[in-house]
Amino acid sequence: MSEASPAERNELPVVTDSETTEVHAMEFLRVTEKAALASSRWLGRGDNHAADQAAVDAMRTVFNEMPINGTVVIGEGQKDEAPELYVGEELGTGGMPCEIAVDPLEGTDLVARGDSGAIAVCVVADPGGIFSAPDIYMRKLCVGASCKGRVDINAPLEETLEVVARCYERRVRDLTVIALDRPRHAELIEEVREAGARIRLIADGDITASMSAAVRGTGDHLYVGIGGSTEGVITAAALEALGGEIQAHMWPKDEEQRQMCAEFGIVDPNKIMTNGDLASAPRYVLATGVTDGNLLKGVRFFADGARTHSIVMDLTTGTVRFIDTIHVQSRTLISEIRL
Ligand code: FBP
Repeated sequence: MSEASPAERNELPVVTDSETTEVHAMEFLRVTEKAALASSRWLGRGDNHAADQAAVDAMRTVFNEMPINGTVVIGEGQKDEAPELYVGEELGTGGMPCEIAVDPLEGTDLVARGDSGAIAVCVVADPGGIFSAPDIYMRKLCVGASCKGRVDINAPLEETLEVVARCYERRVRDLTVIALDRPRHAELIEEVREAGARIRLIADGDITASMSAAVRGTGDHLYVGIGGSTEGVITAAALEALGGEIQAHMWPKDEEQRQMCAEFGIVDPNKIMTNGDLASAPRYVLATGVTDGNLLKGVRFFADGARTHSIVMDLTTGTVRFIDTIHVQSRTLISEIRL
C-alpha cells in the first residue's frame, strides 16, 4: 500500500528548508564583485593564470560564507583538473539548495593583456536547473528579445541577418554582429562581410558578447560562432533573464568527444538546444565587469577603494538591475564619493 501524502494525513503543510532560507539575488552580488575586484588587480600583467586564480579564490570564499547548499554544475573543470570550484563541489554553510554555474573570469587572456570585455559571472538555479555539459565546443547563435523565435541557427547567415534587420527596423548594414576572432570562423566572417553587416571580432568572451547582443543600447545585435559549451549554458540563463534566445548545438571534433556527448546524454550532437534545454530553472544570473565592455564597465581603482559595475538578473521577480558599487577599502575615507 502506498504511503499517504501529508495532505491525505491531514497534517500541516511541510515547510521545506528552501522556503525558510531563501537567499535573494542581491545577496549573491558580492560573489561576482569580489571575483572582479581580485582579478582586475592582474590587469595587463601578462599572467592569465594568476588573474583566473584570484577570481576563483574570491568567488569560492564568498560562496562558502553564504547560507546555501550549493553544488557546482559548471565550474573550473572536473575534480581531478581543478582543486576549486570543480564540478560537483559543495558550496555554502548550508541553507537554500541550489545549483551553481560559474565562470569566475571570462576572458583570462583579456585581463592578462589589459584588453576589454572580461567579466566575472555566475548563475544560481534550482536543483536540476542547469544542464550538465561536456566541456567541448558548441555552435551558438544569440539574439535579444526583438528577434526571439524569429531566427534559425541552421538558416543561411545572410537570411538571418535580414530577419534581424527587420526585427530592429533597420538595414543589414546598420547591424553589428559579434564573433570570436578565430580561423574556424573565416567562412562565417566572410558571409557577414558579404551581406554588408558590420562585424566586431573579439579576442575572447562570448558570454559577455551574447549578453551585449541581447541588450538594446549596446550597439550589438547578434552573436554567432563556435565557443565553449559551458559558456553556452551560462549564456542560456542570462538570455532567458534578458528575454533573448540562444540556439546552440554541441560541436564535437572527433569520435572521443562524440562519446563524451553520449555520456552526458546527448545522443545527437546536432540537436538544437535553446534557453530551457540548457538552463531549465535559473533563478539568478549575476555578472560584474572586470575590464570595460559594451555592456559593463570594468573595475576602477582609486586611493582608498574601487568601483564596480554589475548586472543582476533575477528570474524569480523579473528584475534586471544595473548596479554601480563603490567599495570603500580604508576605514578613514580619503576621497569623496563621486557620482
Ligand atoms: P577563458 O574564460 O578561459 O579566458 O575563455 C574565454 C573564451 O573566449 C570563451 O568566452 C569562449 O567560449 C572560449 O574561450 C572560446 O574558446 P577558444 O579560445 O578555444 O576559441
